[in-house]
Amino acid sequence: MSSFDRIGILGAGRAGTAIARAATRAGLEVHIASTRTPSQMRYHLMQYAPQARAVHAEEIADGVDLVILAVPQEDLDDVDPVWVAQRILVDATNRWENEPLPAWFEQGLASGLSSSEVIAQRFPEARVVKALNHISHWAMDAPQTAEARAAMVAADDPAAAQLVAQFVTALGFEAVVAESLAAGRHAEPGTPYFNVAATAAQLKQALL
Ligand SMILES: NC(=O)c1ccc[n+]([C@@H]2O[C@H](COP(=O)([O-])OP(=O)(O)OC[C@H]3O[C@@H](n4cnc5c(N)ncnc54)[C@H](OP(=O)(O)O)[C@@H]3O)[C@@H](O)[C@H]2O)c1
Repeated sequence: MSSFDRIGILGAGRAGTAIARAATRAGLEVHIASTRTPSQMRYHLMQYAPQARAVHAEEIADGVDLVILAVPQEDLDDVDPVWVAQRILVDATNRWENEPLPAWFEQGLASGLSSSEVIAQRFPEARVVKALNHISHWAMDAPQTAEARAAMVAADDPAAAQLVAQFVTALGFEAVVAESLAAGRHAEPGTPYFNVAATAAQLKQALL
């Protein structure tokens, strides 16, 4: 039985630290890693995610079932898939404008896969779920309004999708589950609700 009482976040930039702040506000324990050692991250985290615990990237999955991937896609050659084997990997990444991508990523996209399907091929021993990629770090910190903002959760693995839906709900969003990783392309950059607030009804419509 998987849980998300403690999560790992790979990437401690704008997205990773915003997700860390939201998760710690929700009472979750957060381990976070970047290219730097925990001691090198100390002052950065004191400012951006003071409740999170810095760990080495290769230890990000220790003691957690769920790891958020918040590393720029151009840097993914340096993320060893073994680090997140047997874990739920929440793909929160996007290609940003003309960001240069690793060759395997370009080839996967050229073959017609959605970006999270390419990530799933790259991380074959992880259970990849696409989520949180379409929510900006500003919105992650925004106060809740009367109507919760919708957040898409797309996966081929229903049990993993359910757990991530519970996780995004704990962060204060209304989860809208798309029943395939391929459907996650409806929340990629350039789609109507990418970085744009949507209700659950609007997001469900976009996923049709
Ligand atoms: N910014 C947003 O609002 C937002 C929202 C949703 C999704 N996203 C997506 O999230 C991803 C990251 O965006 P960002 O804006 O957070 O980027 P960012 O501010 O540039 O931060 C990137 C982080 O990734 C870390 N990193 C790079 N290579 C790594 C590696 N091999 N192992 C571990 N950590 C590594 C960096 O480490 P160092 O700190 O050591 O350099 C840095 O902490 C992008 O794909 C983006 O599209 C961003």
